[in-house]
Amino acid sequence: MTTLVKGIHHLTQCPGSAQDDLDFCSRVLGQRLVKQTVLMDGRIPIYHFYWGSGDAEIGSIATSFPYSRKPGRAGSGQVSVTSYAVPQGSADFWNGHFERHEVEHSGVQERFGLRFVRVRHPAGMLFEVVEADSDLTPWVTDEISADVATRGFFGAVMSVRSIEEQEQFLVEALGFRKLGVDGSYHRFETPGGGPGSVIDLHHEPSRPPGTWTFGAGTYHHIAFNVETDEALVAQKALYEELGYTDASDIKDRFYFHSLYVRSPGGVLVECTANVPGGFYLDEAPEDLGRHLNLPPWYEEKRADILAMLEPITVPEANRPRPGVVRAARPALEPAAVTSAGIPLTRTKAEFITDHL
Ligand SMILES: [Fe+2]
Repeated sequence: MTTLVKGIHHLTQCPGSAQDDLDFCSRVLGQRLVKQTVLMDGRIPIYHFYWGSGDAEIGSIATSFPYSRKPGRAGSGQVSVTSYAVPQGSADFWNGHFERHEVEHSGVQERFGLRFVRVRHPAGMLFEVVEADSDLTPWVTDEISADVATRGFFGAVMSVRSIEEQEQFLVEALGFRKLGVDGSYHRFETPGGGPGSVIDLHHEPSRPPGTWTFGAGTYHHIAFNVETDEALVAQKALYEELGYTDASDIKDRFYFHSLYVRSPGGVLVECTANVPGGFYLDEAPEDLGRHLNLPPWYEEKRADILAMLEPITVPEANRPRPGVVRAARPALEPAAVTSAGIPLTRTKAEFITDHL
């Protein structure tokens, strides 16, 4: 079978406080804030932060919906860990770094022969740094130098009560191959490797299912890169051919196009096609992440949206600095149809402005 999936495009989590997320992801995980926008579904404005590598590369993007309005429950049927690649020999630095920040962490451990340290976000989600090779661009802060900084994703862990059906989905629908088993972890990889190419299924047969809604303390979904609109259309057809009939419409997420399906283990899986220009569509490279950017079809609601979002301070570590690759800024021409001629679904949110 021709594999459409290239690796992880982004991972999306629901922290609680927006400011806690800004502080943890920038100062503790050393990520670059590359975009501030809002959730494009629903009637209540919720921030949508994009965290990434020094050059906001595909394979490095973690996105946050700070959803302090409602708690979620972490459990099986969810992504349980985001795994970042860090240079060989840097796990000890990260262990000390997490100690200095007084955050809950695992200490240095080993899985499939690779050293890693796992750390807990203030809202409860787990992240880990794994010693593994990656060519993505590091983002340097005053505490995290280039020789230890993260280089995009190594992969992710999914918690599942049963391996078989989720394995079948990864292999048949997404083209993964199984690499092996280490204790309760089953490892899969996209052929060709690259950033974010590893998925570990964590077999937790007695763990209660996690919530599927947006809710603080949980991962919401994982997105895999299929690169083009044509591949996205083919992926939807493959889902339907296999019997995953509940695949969504192809949605316009402005920076990319998206297709969602609920996988058998419970994890919401998105596939994305890249829009030319990506994160540079609406702001210059040196300004990435510094201002709230709304898709054009939300601009008329900007004042209402701003009034309902919690005040935040972008950390000093995310100010633009020289050394980041400067991509050309393309003309702003968001498409109404995919390049394959399939109409895109856009959410025209009617925000509630009088409920606070
Ligand atoms: Fe997504």
